Amino acid sequence: MVNYKDLGLVNTREMFKKAINGGYAIPAFNFNNMEQMQAIIQAAVETKSPVILQVSKGARQYANATLLRYMAQGAVEYAKELGCANPQIVLHLDHGDTFETCKSCIGSGFSSVMIDGSHLPYDENVALTKKVVEYAHQFDVTVEGELGVLAGVEDDVVAEHHTYTRPEEVVDFVTKTGCDSLAISIGTSHGAYKLVPPPLAFDVLDGVMKELPGFPIVLHGSSSVPQEEVDTINKYGGKLEAAIGIPEDELRKAAKSAVCKINIDSDSRLAMTAAVRKVFAEKPAEFDPRKYLGPARDNMKKLYEHKIVNVLGSDNKL
Ligand code: G3H
Ligand code: 13P
Ligand code: ZN
Repeated sequence: MVNYKDLGLVNTREMFKKAINGGYAIPAFNFNNMEQMQAIIQAAVETKSPVILQVSKGARQYANATLLRYMAQGAVEYAKELGCANPQIVLHLDHGDTFETCKSCIGSGFSSVMIDGSHLPYDENVALTKKVVEYAHQFDVTVEGELGVLAGVEDDVVAEHHTYTRPEEVVDFVTKTGCDSLAISIGTSHGAYKLVPPPLAFDVLDGVMKELPGFPIVLHGSSSVPQEEVDTINKYGGKLEAAIGIPEDELRKAAKSAVCKINIDSDSRLAMTAAVRKVFAEKPAEFDPRKYLGPARDNMKKLYEHKIVNVLGSDNKL
């Protein structure tokens, strides 16, 4: 058992408080590999931003849970080496599906976990989230719960329509579970083909904030699917038709409210794929992975910096 504090990581509590008071949101970027992690840390250090490194169940299976935790520990040291004296880095489990997964992550140094019971009947979601919170809080690990269902595919769960969060449920949920932050459904969805009903349901967000003043709110499915990256991918042999994301000005507006964590994964995947496809198309004789993963890393870093500075506003907050 290793505690996150011994790895130099932090939980989300203070970070979210400052973000709500300061009118910005913390970036929660998913990572599965070294290049993504390097790009995230480089961007966070250069912009002086706190950051949440997110690991999904799929990432744990792909990269190996033990390696990921050492990479996160390495991320803290890497940030210091890059000149950041006091990095604010959270290692977070994204879409935890069982108590056991959350427990295992907490035991291996995660400072924050999400228990996603959003697809369960309300009472079961409450019971599962409460169980995780009671365990996590013994180690000062913070917990994100979710109410409402995002349209699209989340791991094995498929939902055809958004089920917006019901503001009348949130006080009961937060009180009974003791969770530290709440992911809500206001029209975002996962992946690069969003069911966009622009604008987002800001009336639902307003309703939630009225019920839970000052409580940390989380938005999943918040990639914007930059057209530039989609065009590059399609130009160099890809086939991403009708890919669409959440407009950045809507996210900017959300970041100024109690939304203090914004999840972005697909945009990084697009930035990586676009850069790799370009190298493959322009230099077909190239076969050194560093020659295509290097440009991929640079392109992801550019994307992360753009999100931090121009969308979430978390720069210069360390
Ligand atoms: O919300 C899902 C994240 O984008 C993680 O995706 O489960 O394919 O790693 P993944
Ligand atoms: P995107 O697919 O929009 O990047 O959302 C990622 C996410 O919500 C991770 O939990
Ligand atoms: Zn998500």
